[in-house]
Amino acid sequence: MNALWTSAEAEAATLGHASRPFEATGLSIDTRTLKPGDLFVALKGDARDGHEFVAAAMQAKAAAALVSRPVKADGALLTVANTLRGLEDLGRASRARTHAKIVAITGSAGKTTTKEVLRLAFGALGKTHASSASHNNHWGVPLSLAAMPRDAQFGVFEIGMNHFGEIRSLVGFVRPHVALVTTIAPAHLEFFGTCEAIADAKSEIFEGIVPGGTGIVPADSPYAERLIARAKQAGVTRVLTFGTKSGCDARLVSTAPHDGGMKIEADVMGRPVLFRIGAPGAHIAQNAIAALLAVAAAEGDVLNAAAALEQFSALKGRGARFKVKLAGGEAEIIDESYNANPASMAAAFALLAGTPARRRIAVIGNMLEMGADAAAHHAALAKDVEAAHVDLVFANGEDMKALWDALPAARRGAYGKVSAEIAPKVVRALRAGDVVLVKGSFGSKMSVVIDALKKAG
Ligand SMILES: Nc1ncnc2c1ncn2[C@@H]1O[C@H](COP(=O)(O)OP(=O)(O)O)[C@@H](O)[C@H]1O
Ligand SMILES: [Mg+2]
Repeated sequence: MNALWTSAEAEAATLGHASRPFEATGLSIDTRTLKPGDLFVALKGDARDGHEFVAAAMQAKAAAALVSRPVKADGALLTVANTLRGLEDLGRASRARTHAKIVAITGSAGKTTTKEVLRLAFGALGKTHASSASHNNHWGVPLSLAAMPRDAQFGVFEIGMNHFGEIRSLVGFVRPHVALVTTIAPAHLEFFGTCEAIADAKSEIFEGIVPGGTGIVPADSPYAERLIARAKQAGVTRVLTFGTKSGCDARLVSTAPHDGGMKIEADVMGRPVLFRIGAPGAHIAQNAIAALLAVAAAEGDVLNAAAALEQFSALKGRGARFKVKLAGGEAEIIDESYNANPASMAAAFALLAGTPARRRIAVIGNMLEMGADAAAHHAALAKDVEAAHVDLVFANGEDMKALWDALPAARRGAYGKVSAEIAPKVVRALRAGDVVLVKGSFGSKMSVVIDALKKAG
């Protein structure tokens, strides 16, 4: 059986009605990325309604469309009462039929990175399915689940949130054998108020673990004890830890730079594991040992999984690097433009500090959703700037003004309200031998700076 969903299976899963038989080989909610043979799910978004695109989906050779009302389109229609509910039903049915070991990942930073590390790690052991991109929300999680091939041996799912109760409902679909929290940091503080509250919200992931399953917690986090207590409260009998502390179930023993990445010595469940990973950074090392602990918890072969991590490279917008050719040499750009909060900023500054450079330059934009103390959180980055021996800072955004004001004059590159204002100034300042870190929340549009630097060469 090659099809992901036959019409009969999809009807049974959703209690829907198929206008004619079909076999879908994939799932799509967006006609721009739809592949021939996909089941197109017509979701209602804030701006558009997927039902408007069913005809386009059929033209792109969708096998069928999941709809909640009649549409004019030439193709098979699976009609349900509500398409989001229909997608959830497919996700639930996918989970019910699979024999795969399932891992769920949440945390304030590092979810996607750890998910991609696990895609490689499990990929060395068997057929592996993992969420696409950062599909971690109310439609992303059921979509990822419903798209899992029926013969997958491992499934890896990212779960995100910005409110209480979201993870609880999403993990109910995923029902993981292993649930992993990467890190707890002040992100979405606007909605939560405190990091304790954030830790509690992330802990909802433990409530969905299947009986006998495993919770995994970051030992180096100030909230480790709280996470462990919450996991136990949720009835999880096996809670494992990763980090640098003695007594961790996956312990980082040493890291050393190697060929643009790292050589890592770790101890996983009492066994020494030596491996290479194709990206640098203390946070990458943490993500890697967390992933290997998840492999161990899923009864996978840790040594073979670890050997695959050499293939890992930093992801776009999350540490991927490129060079800019200049008179007299090159500058190196670290693209961290995808996201930012205080924890990931600290991780990125550490990355910058660890990169050999003639000059270190940080181009940073606002960390969003930081709540009432936003200015203080931004000003506090001054210590990261100091610790990383950053020579020049370019900053944009209202909150970043607090950092800018806290910087000594010698470290000031330029300040602007928006990234487009500072981008040309960064380009003008660029010299051979510079290493430039570009980071900010997605909404701070640091990609504008990245694009300007790409053109600068
Ligand atoms: N374990 C970690 N601890 C702190 N920061 C991290 C960690 N892993 C990744 N980061 C930082 O967070 C950014 C976003 O990483 P990503 O894996 O996309 O996280 P998420 O999916 O949770 O948003 C990265 O660019 C990096 O700066
Ligand atoms: Mg993500």
